[in-house]
Amino acid sequence: MGGNRIQVGIVGAGPAGLLLGHLLHLNGIDSLIVENRSREYVIDRVRAGVLEQGTVDLLQAMGVGDGLQQAGLRHEGLHVSFRGSRHRIDLAGLTGGKAITVYGQNEVVRDLIDARTATTRPLHFEAERVSVSDLDSSSPVLRFQHGGAEHEVHCDYIAGCDGFHGICRPAIPEGVLTVYERIYPFAWLGILSEAAPSSEELVYTYHDRGFALFSMRSPKVTRLYFQVPPDEPIEHWSDEAIWTEMLERMTTQDGWQPNVGRIIQKSVTPMRSFVAAPMRYGRLFLAGDSAHIVPPTGAKGLNLAASDVLVLARALKAFYQHGRTEWLQEYSDVCLRRVWKAQRFSWWMTSTLHRFPDGHAFDHQRQLADLDYLTTSRAAMTSLAEQYVGLPADVSFESAGLTD
Ligand code: FAD
Ligand code: DHB
Repeated sequence: MGGNRIQVGIVGAGPAGLLLGHLLHLNGIDSLIVENRSREYVIDRVRAGVLEQGTVDLLQAMGVGDGLQQAGLRHEGLHVSFRGSRHRIDLAGLTGGKAITVYGQNEVVRDLIDARTATTRPLHFEAERVSVSDLDSSSPVLRFQHGGAEHEVHCDYIAGCDGFHGICRPAIPEGVLTVYERIYPFAWLGILSEAAPSSEELVYTYHDRGFALFSMRSPKVTRLYFQVPPDEPIEHWSDEAIWTEMLERMTTQDGWQPNVGRIIQKSVTPMRSFVAAPMRYGRLFLAGDSAHIVPPTGAKGLNLAASDVLVLARALKAFYQHGRTEWLQEYSDVCLRRVWKAQRFSWWMTSTLHRFPDGHAFDHQRQLADLDYLTTSRAAMTSLAEQYVGLPADVSFESAGLTD
Protein backbone atom coordinates (compact mmCIF):
# COMPACT_ATOMS: atom_id res chain seq x y z
CA MET A 1 0.00 0.00 0.00
CA GLY A 2 1.49 3.35 -1.04
CA GLY A 3 0.75 5.93 1.68
CA ASN A 4 1.81 9.56 1.53
CA ARG A 5 0.85 13.20 1.89
CA ILE A 6 0.14 15.88 -0.66
CA GLN A 7 -1.03 19.46 -0.31
CA VAL A 8 -3.97 19.25 -2.75
CA GLY A 9 -5.53 16.06 -4.14
CA ILE A 10 -7.33 16.67 -7.44
CA VAL A 11 -9.88 14.17 -8.75
CA GLY A 12 -10.35 14.39 -12.53
CA ALA A 13 -8.11 15.50 -15.41
CA GLY A 14 -10.66 17.45 -17.40
CA PRO A 15 -10.30 21.19 -17.92
CA ALA A 16 -11.06 22.00 -14.24
CA GLY A 17 -8.57 19.56 -12.71
CA LEU A 18 -5.76 20.29 -15.16
CA LEU A 19 -6.18 24.06 -14.94
CA LEU A 20 -6.23 23.94 -11.16
CA GLY A 21 -3.14 21.72 -11.06
CA HIS A 22 -1.24 24.18 -13.23
CA LEU A 23 -2.41 27.27 -11.32
CA LEU A 24 -1.25 25.61 -8.10
CA HIS A 25 2.06 24.65 -9.69
CA LEU A 26 2.65 28.27 -10.70
CA ASN A 27 2.18 29.18 -7.03
CA GLY A 28 4.54 26.48 -5.79
CA ILE A 29 1.72 24.35 -4.37
CA ASP A 30 1.99 20.60 -4.87
CA SER A 31 -0.90 18.51 -6.14
CA LEU A 32 -1.70 15.00 -7.29
CA ILE A 33 -4.17 14.55 -10.16
CA VAL A 34 -6.02 11.24 -10.38
CA GLU A 35 -8.06 10.41 -13.51
CA ASN A 36 -9.97 7.19 -14.14
CA ARG A 37 -9.85 7.32 -17.95
CA SER A 38 -6.85 6.91 -20.23
CA ARG A 39 -4.83 9.84 -21.53
CA GLU A 40 -6.05 9.14 -25.10
CA TYR A 41 -9.69 9.00 -24.05
CA VAL A 42 -9.46 12.30 -22.19
CA ILE A 43 -7.78 14.03 -25.14
CA ASP A 44 -9.99 12.56 -27.86
CA ARG A 45 -13.33 13.29 -26.15
CA VAL A 46 -15.06 15.80 -28.45
CA ARG A 47 -16.85 18.50 -26.50
CA ALA A 48 -16.76 22.24 -26.15
CA GLY A 49 -15.27 24.64 -28.63
CA VAL A 50 -15.95 28.19 -27.53
CA LEU A 51 -13.59 29.99 -25.16
CA GLU A 52 -14.65 33.27 -23.61
CA GLN A 53 -12.25 36.19 -23.75
CA GLY A 54 -11.44 35.71 -20.04
CA THR A 55 -10.64 32.01 -20.53
CA VAL A 56 -8.30 32.88 -23.39
CA ASP A 57 -6.63 35.55 -21.24
CA LEU A 58 -6.30 33.06 -18.37
CA LEU A 59 -4.64 30.40 -20.53
CA GLN A 60 -2.23 33.02 -21.91
CA ALA A 61 -1.42 34.36 -18.44
CA MET A 62 -0.72 30.79 -17.27
CA GLY A 63 1.78 30.30 -20.10
CA VAL A 64 -0.29 27.56 -21.77
CA GLY A 65 -1.63 29.66 -24.64
CA ASP A 66 0.80 28.81 -27.45
CA GLY A 67 -1.44 26.27 -29.21
CA LEU A 68 -4.39 28.59 -28.76
CA GLN A 69 -2.41 31.47 -30.21
CA GLN A 70 -1.47 29.39 -33.26
CA ALA A 71 -4.63 27.42 -34.02
CA GLY A 72 -7.43 29.23 -32.16
CA LEU A 73 -9.95 31.05 -34.37
CA ARG A 74 -10.86 34.46 -32.96
CA HIS A 75 -14.48 35.39 -33.72
CA GLU A 76 -15.63 38.97 -33.31
CA GLY A 77 -19.24 38.24 -34.14
CA LEU A 78 -21.88 35.53 -34.44
CA HIS A 79 -25.08 35.05 -36.41
CA VAL A 80 -28.59 34.35 -35.25
CA SER A 81 -30.81 32.86 -37.96
CA PHE A 82 -34.60 32.62 -38.01
CA ARG A 83 -37.34 32.85 -40.63
CA GLY A 84 -34.66 32.05 -43.21
CA SER A 85 -32.41 35.07 -42.56
CA ARG A 86 -29.08 35.43 -40.74
CA HIS A 87 -28.51 38.44 -38.49
CA ARG A 88 -25.00 39.30 -37.30
CA ILE A 89 -24.27 40.34 -33.73
CA ASP A 90 -21.06 42.34 -33.52
CA LEU A 91 -19.59 40.91 -30.33
CA ALA A 92 -16.41 42.99 -30.42
CA GLY A 93 -18.10 46.23 -31.45
CA LEU A 94 -20.63 45.92 -28.62
CA THR A 95 -18.16 44.94 -25.88
CA GLY A 96 -15.23 47.28 -26.43
CA GLY A 97 -13.22 44.78 -28.45
CA LYS A 98 -13.85 41.46 -26.68
CA ALA A 99 -14.27 38.28 -28.70
CA ILE A 100 -14.56 34.52 -28.35
CA THR A 101 -12.04 31.99 -29.62
CA VAL A 102 -12.97 28.70 -31.20
CA TYR A 103 -10.43 26.12 -30.03
CA GLY A 104 -11.46 22.55 -29.26
CA GLN A 105 -11.67 21.45 -25.63
CA ASN A 106 -9.57 18.44 -26.58
CA GLU A 107 -6.79 20.81 -27.72
CA VAL A 108 -7.05 22.73 -24.43
CA VAL A 109 -6.81 19.45 -22.51
CA ARG A 110 -3.87 18.25 -24.62
CA ASP A 111 -1.99 21.52 -24.00
CA LEU A 112 -2.65 21.29 -20.26
CA ILE A 113 -1.56 17.64 -20.07
CA ASP A 114 1.68 18.58 -21.86
CA ALA A 115 2.21 21.46 -19.40
CA ARG A 116 1.53 19.16 -16.44
CA THR A 117 3.90 16.51 -17.74
CA ALA A 118 6.64 19.13 -18.11
CA THR A 119 6.30 20.04 -14.41
CA THR A 120 6.90 16.36 -13.47
CA ARG A 121 4.22 16.68 -10.80
CA PRO A 122 2.04 13.54 -10.60
CA LEU A 123 -0.86 12.92 -12.99
CA HIS A 124 -2.19 9.35 -12.92
CA PHE A 125 -4.43 8.12 -15.74
CA GLU A 126 -6.46 4.91 -15.57
CA ALA A 127 -6.74 5.06 -11.79
CA GLU A 128 -9.31 2.62 -10.44
CA ARG A 129 -11.61 2.59 -7.42
CA VAL A 130 -11.05 6.28 -6.74
CA SER A 131 -12.66 7.42 -3.48
CA VAL A 132 -12.50 10.33 -1.03
CA SER A 133 -13.18 10.24 2.71
CA ASP A 134 -12.65 12.11 6.02
CA LEU A 135 -13.77 15.26 4.23
CA ASP A 136 -14.70 17.10 7.42
CA SER A 137 -11.41 16.26 9.16
CA SER A 138 -8.19 18.27 8.91
CA SER A 139 -6.71 15.62 6.63
CA PRO A 140 -9.10 14.26 3.99
CA VAL A 141 -8.05 11.06 2.27
CA LEU A 142 -7.86 10.21 -1.43
CA ARG A 143 -7.69 6.47 -2.22
CA PHE A 144 -7.19 4.77 -5.56
CA GLN A 145 -5.55 1.85 -7.30
CA HIS A 146 -2.91 2.55 -9.89
CA GLY A 147 -0.18 0.49 -11.52
CA GLY A 148 -1.23 -2.57 -9.53
CA ALA A 149 -0.86 -0.80 -6.14
CA GLU A 150 -3.30 0.61 -3.60
CA HIS A 151 -2.70 4.27 -2.77
CA GLU A 152 -3.91 6.18 0.26
CA VAL A 153 -3.00 9.84 0.11
CA HIS A 154 -3.60 12.26 2.98
CA CYS A 155 -4.32 15.76 1.70
CA ASP A 156 -4.74 19.25 3.12
CA TYR A 157 -7.57 19.79 0.64
CA ILE A 158 -9.31 17.80 -2.09
CA ALA A 159 -10.65 19.37 -5.29
CA GLY A 160 -13.55 17.47 -6.84
CA CYS A 161 -13.00 18.18 -10.56
CA ASP A 162 -14.49 14.88 -11.69
CA GLY A 163 -17.41 16.11 -13.76
CA PHE A 164 -21.12 15.46 -13.44
CA HIS A 165 -20.82 11.66 -13.06
CA GLY A 166 -17.85 11.73 -10.66
CA ILE A 167 -17.52 10.40 -7.12
CA CYS A 168 -16.81 13.60 -5.18
CA ARG A 169 -20.26 15.20 -5.10
CA PRO A 170 -21.90 11.89 -4.03
CA ALA A 171 -19.30 11.61 -1.21
CA ILE A 172 -20.88 14.62 0.51
CA PRO A 173 -23.31 13.45 3.22
CA GLU A 174 -26.98 13.56 2.42
CA GLY A 175 -28.75 16.74 3.43
CA VAL A 176 -25.75 19.03 2.96
CA LEU A 177 -26.32 19.99 -0.67
CA THR A 178 -29.31 21.69 -2.20
CA VAL A 179 -29.80 20.61 -5.80
CA TYR A 180 -31.46 22.83 -8.40
CA GLU A 181 -32.22 21.05 -11.66
CA ARG A 182 -34.06 21.39 -14.94
CA ILE A 183 -34.08 18.72 -17.62
CA TYR A 184 -34.99 19.78 -21.14
CA PRO A 185 -37.26 17.77 -23.45
CA PHE A 186 -34.60 17.52 -26.18
CA ALA A 187 -30.96 16.61 -26.79
CA TRP A 188 -28.29 17.68 -29.30
CA LEU A 189 -27.05 15.47 -32.08
CA GLY A 190 -23.54 16.73 -32.89
CA ILE A 191 -21.20 15.90 -35.76
CA LEU A 192 -17.69 16.71 -36.89
CA SER A 193 -17.39 16.83 -40.64
CA GLU A 194 -14.45 17.00 -43.02
CA ALA A 195 -15.70 20.14 -44.76
CA ALA A 196 -14.38 23.67 -44.87
CA PRO A 197 -16.58 25.95 -42.75
CA SER A 198 -18.86 27.92 -45.09
CA SER A 199 -19.15 30.81 -42.60
CA GLU A 200 -16.32 32.42 -40.67
CA GLU A 201 -18.58 32.81 -37.64
CA LEU A 202 -21.03 30.65 -35.68
CA VAL A 203 -24.68 30.50 -36.74
CA TYR A 204 -27.38 29.75 -34.15
CA THR A 205 -30.59 28.80 -35.97
CA TYR A 206 -34.19 28.71 -34.76
CA HIS A 207 -36.22 26.75 -37.32
CA ASP A 208 -39.77 25.37 -37.36
CA ARG A 209 -38.19 21.89 -37.18
CA GLY A 210 -36.04 22.90 -34.19
CA PHE A 211 -32.67 24.33 -33.19
CA ALA A 212 -29.48 23.94 -35.24
CA LEU A 213 -25.95 25.27 -34.70
CA PHE A 214 -23.12 25.80 -37.14
CA SER A 215 -19.60 25.88 -35.67
CA MET A 216 -16.14 24.71 -36.63
CA ARG A 217 -12.86 23.36 -35.33
CA SER A 218 -10.38 24.40 -38.01
CA PRO A 219 -10.29 25.74 -41.59
CA LYS A 220 -10.97 22.13 -42.69
CA VAL A 221 -13.38 20.83 -40.08
CA THR A 222 -17.00 21.89 -39.49
CA ARG A 223 -18.85 21.20 -36.21
CA LEU A 224 -22.63 21.04 -36.41
CA TYR A 225 -25.46 20.29 -34.02
CA PHE A 226 -29.25 20.00 -34.18
CA GLN A 227 -32.00 19.38 -31.69
CA VAL A 228 -33.40 15.83 -31.46
CA PRO A 229 -35.75 14.14 -28.97
CA PRO A 230 -34.14 13.23 -25.62
CA ASP A 231 -32.43 9.80 -25.55
CA GLU A 232 -32.49 9.66 -29.34
CA PRO A 233 -30.40 6.62 -30.36
CA ILE A 234 -27.61 7.81 -32.68
CA GLU A 235 -28.18 4.64 -34.76
CA HIS A 236 -31.49 6.13 -35.87
CA TRP A 237 -29.57 8.67 -37.91
CA SER A 238 -27.75 7.64 -41.07
CA ASP A 239 -25.20 10.15 -42.33
CA GLU A 240 -27.52 10.94 -45.22
CA ALA A 241 -30.46 11.61 -42.90
CA ILE A 242 -28.26 13.87 -40.75
CA TRP A 243 -27.28 15.99 -43.75
CA THR A 244 -30.85 16.23 -45.02
CA GLU A 245 -32.05 17.50 -41.64
CA MET A 246 -29.07 19.78 -41.13
CA LEU A 247 -29.50 21.47 -44.53
CA GLU A 248 -33.25 21.73 -44.12
CA ARG A 249 -32.85 23.65 -40.88
CA MET A 250 -29.80 25.73 -41.73
CA THR A 251 -30.19 26.83 -45.35
CA THR A 252 -31.17 30.50 -45.50
CA GLN A 253 -33.07 32.40 -48.18
CA ASP A 254 -29.85 33.85 -49.60
CA GLY A 255 -28.68 30.28 -50.27
CA TRP A 256 -26.18 30.02 -47.41
CA GLN A 257 -25.73 26.52 -46.05
CA PRO A 258 -22.95 24.42 -44.51
CA ASN A 259 -20.60 22.57 -46.82
CA VAL A 260 -21.27 18.84 -46.78
CA GLY A 261 -18.39 16.48 -46.06
CA ARG A 262 -17.55 13.08 -44.61
CA ILE A 263 -18.87 12.73 -41.04
CA ILE A 264 -15.95 11.77 -38.79
CA GLN A 265 -17.69 11.77 -35.42
CA LYS A 266 -21.30 11.81 -34.24
CA SER A 267 -22.96 11.65 -30.84
CA VAL A 268 -26.07 12.67 -28.88
CA THR A 269 -25.79 14.86 -25.75
CA PRO A 270 -28.60 15.30 -23.23
CA MET A 271 -29.39 18.78 -21.97
CA ARG A 272 -29.79 19.86 -18.39
CA SER A 273 -29.36 22.75 -16.02
CA PHE A 274 -28.01 21.66 -12.62
CA VAL A 275 -26.50 23.38 -9.59
CA ALA A 276 -25.45 21.73 -6.30
CA ALA A 277 -24.87 24.24 -3.53
CA PRO A 278 -22.73 24.93 -1.62
CA MET A 279 -19.74 23.93 -3.74
CA ARG A 280 -17.85 22.90 -0.63
CA TYR A 281 -18.07 20.41 2.20
CA GLY A 282 -15.34 20.51 4.86
CA ARG A 283 -12.06 20.28 2.98
CA LEU A 284 -13.62 19.10 -0.30
CA PHE A 285 -14.15 21.80 -2.95
CA LEU A 286 -16.23 21.04 -6.04
CA ALA A 287 -15.28 22.81 -9.29
CA GLY A 288 -16.64 22.70 -12.83
CA ASP A 289 -19.22 20.14 -13.99
CA SER A 290 -19.04 18.24 -10.67
CA ALA A 291 -20.98 21.15 -9.13
CA HIS A 292 -22.98 22.49 -12.05
CA ILE A 293 -24.11 21.75 -15.60
CA VAL A 294 -25.45 24.19 -18.15
CA PRO A 295 -27.20 23.29 -21.40
CA PRO A 296 -24.58 23.85 -24.14
CA THR A 297 -26.49 26.56 -26.02
CA GLY A 298 -24.67 29.41 -24.23
CA ALA A 299 -21.23 27.74 -24.61
CA LYS A 300 -20.51 28.34 -20.92
CA GLY A 301 -19.55 24.97 -19.33
CA LEU A 302 -15.81 24.93 -19.92
CA ASN A 303 -15.58 28.62 -19.16
CA LEU A 304 -17.32 28.17 -15.81
CA ALA A 305 -14.88 25.38 -14.96
CA ALA A 306 -12.06 27.86 -15.62
CA SER A 307 -13.56 30.62 -13.49
CA ASP A 308 -14.23 28.22 -10.58
CA VAL A 309 -10.63 27.05 -10.43
CA LEU A 310 -9.32 30.61 -10.65
CA VAL A 311 -11.32 31.39 -7.50
CA LEU A 312 -10.09 28.18 -5.85
CA ALA A 313 -6.45 28.80 -6.77
CA ARG A 314 -6.68 32.30 -5.28
CA ALA A 315 -8.03 30.86 -2.02
CA LEU A 316 -5.43 28.08 -1.79
CA LYS A 317 -2.61 30.54 -2.56
CA ALA A 318 -3.79 32.84 0.27
CA PHE A 319 -3.85 29.82 2.60
CA TYR A 320 -0.40 28.46 1.73
CA GLN A 321 1.34 31.82 1.44
CA HIS A 322 -0.33 33.77 4.26
CA GLY A 323 -2.28 31.24 6.34
CA ARG A 324 -5.51 33.03 5.43
CA THR A 325 -8.69 30.98 5.15
CA GLU A 326 -11.38 33.57 4.45
CA TRP A 327 -11.18 33.13 0.69
CA LEU A 328 -11.61 29.40 1.17
CA GLN A 329 -14.73 30.17 3.21
CA GLU A 330 -16.04 32.47 0.49
CA TYR A 331 -15.21 30.10 -2.39
CA SER A 332 -18.71 28.74 -2.95
CA ASP A 333 -20.47 32.11 -2.69
CA VAL A 334 -18.07 33.81 -5.10
CA CYS A 335 -18.39 30.98 -7.66
CA LEU A 336 -22.15 30.65 -7.39
CA ARG A 337 -22.82 34.29 -8.27
CA ARG A 338 -21.15 33.73 -11.62
CA VAL A 339 -22.59 30.24 -12.03
CA TRP A 340 -26.15 31.49 -11.63
CA LYS A 341 -25.65 34.26 -14.15
CA ALA A 342 -24.32 31.71 -16.64
CA GLN A 343 -27.22 29.40 -15.77
CA ARG A 344 -29.68 32.18 -16.50
CA PHE A 345 -28.02 33.02 -19.82
CA SER A 346 -27.79 29.37 -20.91
CA TRP A 347 -31.42 28.74 -19.99
CA TRP A 348 -32.47 31.84 -21.93
CA MET A 349 -30.47 30.92 -25.05
CA THR A 350 -31.88 27.39 -24.84
CA SER A 351 -35.50 28.46 -24.30
CA THR A 352 -35.37 31.05 -27.06
CA LEU A 353 -33.75 28.88 -29.73
CA HIS A 354 -35.34 25.42 -29.29
CA ARG A 355 -38.76 24.07 -30.27
CA PHE A 356 -40.39 22.64 -27.15
CA PRO A 357 -42.38 19.49 -28.06
CA ASP A 358 -45.28 20.63 -25.88
CA GLY A 359 -44.81 24.27 -26.92
CA HIS A 360 -47.86 26.26 -27.83
CA ALA A 361 -48.27 28.32 -30.96
CA PHE A 362 -48.09 31.26 -28.55
CA ASP A 363 -44.58 30.26 -27.46
CA HIS A 364 -43.42 29.91 -31.06
CA GLN A 365 -44.58 33.45 -31.90
CA ARG A 366 -43.09 34.79 -28.65
CA GLN A 367 -39.74 33.18 -29.47
CA LEU A 368 -39.78 34.72 -32.94
CA ALA A 369 -40.56 38.11 -31.38
CA ASP A 370 -37.74 37.60 -28.90
CA LEU A 371 -35.32 36.92 -31.78
CA ASP A 372 -36.69 39.86 -33.78
CA TYR A 373 -36.08 42.12 -30.76
CA LEU A 374 -32.67 40.60 -30.12
CA THR A 375 -31.46 41.25 -33.63
CA THR A 376 -32.85 44.77 -34.00
CA SER A 377 -32.24 46.34 -30.59
CA ARG A 378 -28.73 47.52 -29.80
CA ALA A 379 -29.49 47.13 -26.08
CA ALA A 380 -30.58 43.50 -26.55
CA MET A 381 -27.58 42.69 -28.75
CA THR A 382 -25.25 44.30 -26.22
CA SER A 383 -26.74 42.19 -23.46
CA LEU A 384 -26.20 39.00 -25.45
CA ALA A 385 -22.71 40.07 -26.51
CA GLU A 386 -21.42 40.87 -23.03
CA GLN A 387 -22.66 37.56 -21.69
CA TYR A 388 -21.49 35.50 -24.67
CA VAL A 389 -17.92 36.86 -24.56
CA GLY A 390 -18.06 36.38 -20.77
CA LEU A 391 -18.93 38.64 -17.87
CA PRO A 392 -15.91 40.20 -16.13
CA ALA A 393 -13.98 37.91 -13.77
CA ASP A 394 -14.95 38.21 -10.11
CA VAL A 395 -11.35 37.81 -8.96
CA SER A 396 -8.17 39.24 -10.47
CA PHE A 397 -5.54 37.06 -12.09
CA GLU A 398 -3.02 38.72 -9.80
CA SER A 399 -4.79 37.45 -6.68
CA ALA A 400 -4.31 33.92 -8.05
CA GLY A 401 -0.59 34.51 -8.57
CA LEU A 402 -0.68 35.50 -12.27
CA THR A 403 0.25 38.73 -13.99
CA ASP A 404 -2.87 40.37 -15.44
P1 FAD B 1 -15.06 17.11 -17.28
O1 FAD B 1 -14.55 17.65 -18.56
O2 FAD B 1 -16.24 16.21 -17.30
O3 FAD B 1 -13.85 16.39 -16.57
C1 FAD B 1 -14.00 15.55 -15.45
C2 FAD B 1 -12.92 14.50 -15.48
O4 FAD B 1 -13.05 13.67 -14.33
C3 FAD B 1 -13.03 13.59 -16.68
O5 FAD B 1 -11.79 13.50 -17.34
C4 FAD B 1 -13.50 12.26 -16.09
O6 FAD B 1 -13.04 11.16 -16.85
C5 FAD B 1 -12.89 12.33 -14.72
N1 FAD B 1 -13.53 11.46 -13.73
C6 FAD B 1 -14.85 11.14 -13.64
N2 FAD B 1 -15.05 10.29 -12.62
C7 FAD B 1 -13.85 10.06 -12.06
C8 FAD B 1 -13.41 9.25 -10.99
N3 FAD B 1 -14.26 8.49 -10.29
N4 FAD B 1 -12.08 9.25 -10.68
C9 FAD B 1 -11.22 10.00 -11.39
N5 FAD B 1 -11.57 10.78 -12.42
C10 FAD B 1 -12.88 10.81 -12.76
N6 FAD B 1 -18.65 24.27 -22.67
C11 FAD B 1 -18.24 25.48 -23.15
O7 FAD B 1 -17.73 26.30 -22.37
N7 FAD B 1 -18.35 25.83 -24.46
C12 FAD B 1 -18.90 24.99 -25.36
O8 FAD B 1 -18.93 25.31 -26.54
C13 FAD B 1 -19.38 23.73 -24.90
N8 FAD B 1 -19.93 22.84 -25.74
C14 FAD B 1 -20.22 21.58 -25.30
C15 FAD B 1 -20.69 20.68 -26.22
C16 FAD B 1 -20.95 19.38 -25.82
C17 FAD B 1 -21.45 18.41 -26.84
C18 FAD B 1 -20.75 18.99 -24.45
C19 FAD B 1 -21.01 17.57 -24.00
C20 FAD B 1 -20.28 19.89 -23.53
C21 FAD B 1 -20.02 21.19 -23.94
N9 FAD B 1 -19.55 22.13 -23.05
C22 FAD B 1 -19.21 23.38 -23.51
C23 FAD B 1 -19.37 21.80 -21.64
C24 FAD B 1 -17.92 21.43 -21.28
O9 FAD B 1 -17.47 20.40 -22.12
C25 FAD B 1 -17.84 21.01 -19.80
O10 FAD B 1 -18.48 21.99 -19.03
C26 FAD B 1 -16.40 20.84 -19.33
O11 FAD B 1 -15.85 19.65 -19.86
C27 FAD B 1 -16.31 20.78 -17.80
O12 FAD B 1 -15.00 20.50 -17.40
P2 FAD B 1 -14.74 19.70 -16.06
O13 FAD B 1 -13.26 19.56 -15.96
O14 FAD B 1 -15.48 20.33 -14.95
O15 FAD B 1 -15.43 18.28 -16.27
C1 DHB C 1 -19.90 24.82 -29.85
C2 DHB C 1 -20.62 24.24 -28.83
C3 DHB C 1 -21.60 24.96 -28.19
O1 DHB C 1 -22.28 24.41 -27.17
C4 DHB C 1 -21.89 26.26 -28.58
O2 DHB C 1 -22.88 26.93 -27.94
C5 DHB C 1 -21.18 26.84 -29.60
C6 DHB C 1 -20.17 26.10 -30.25
C7 DHB C 1 -18.85 24.03 -30.52
O3 DHB C 1 -18.69 22.85 -30.18
O4 DHB C 1 -18.14 24.57 -31.38
